Amino acid sequence: TPAQTFYDEVGGAETFHKITARFYKEVAADEVLKPLYPEEDLGPAERRLRMFLEQYWGGPRTYSDERGHPRLRMRHHPFTIGPIERDAWLRCMHTAIASIDSATLDDVHRRALTDYMEMAANSMMNSMI
Ligand code: HEM
Repeated sequence: TPAQTFYDEVGGAETFHKITARFYKEVAADEVLKPLYPEEDLGPAERRLRMFLEQYWGGPRTYSDERGHPRLRMRHHPFTIGPIERDAWLRCMHTAIASIDSATLDDVHRRALTDYMEMAANSMMNSMI
């Protein structure tokens, strides 16, 4: 049997669902981020982020089955992402991660997830302003 992945260790699908649902609830109310989204309905974007994160952390590979190689920097090219957008995205993500209880997400896993989000958000910037 394969080793437990990070995905399994933090509660699998339910936890990733909670994180992305809370994240997009914050995005919907964020005046910097909401206007960047091409579609009024954030549901499909929420699902893509959830599938991507599940796959990244060792869960189902549905993201690549449906979307192919992530190429996330390329897919974000249409949107101007400077420090303001990066900070807004991270605020939403920090709120989403904070909504997960400590029995589900212990300090070590919480730190790893948070460090990854900060690295990824920095790497998605494509504008100095
Ligand atoms: C897509 C904004 C960072 C993962 C999108 C979209 C926008 C956006 C506007 C298009 C919505 C859609 O899919 O319909 C931003 C902004 C960021 C950011 C402003 C600020 C730093 C990130 C990070 C990740 C990420 C750090 C991953 C950890 C994704 C994924 C998609 C996406 C997986 C869907 C890609 C696809 O088409 O398959 N993002 N994003 N984003 N974003 Fe971000």
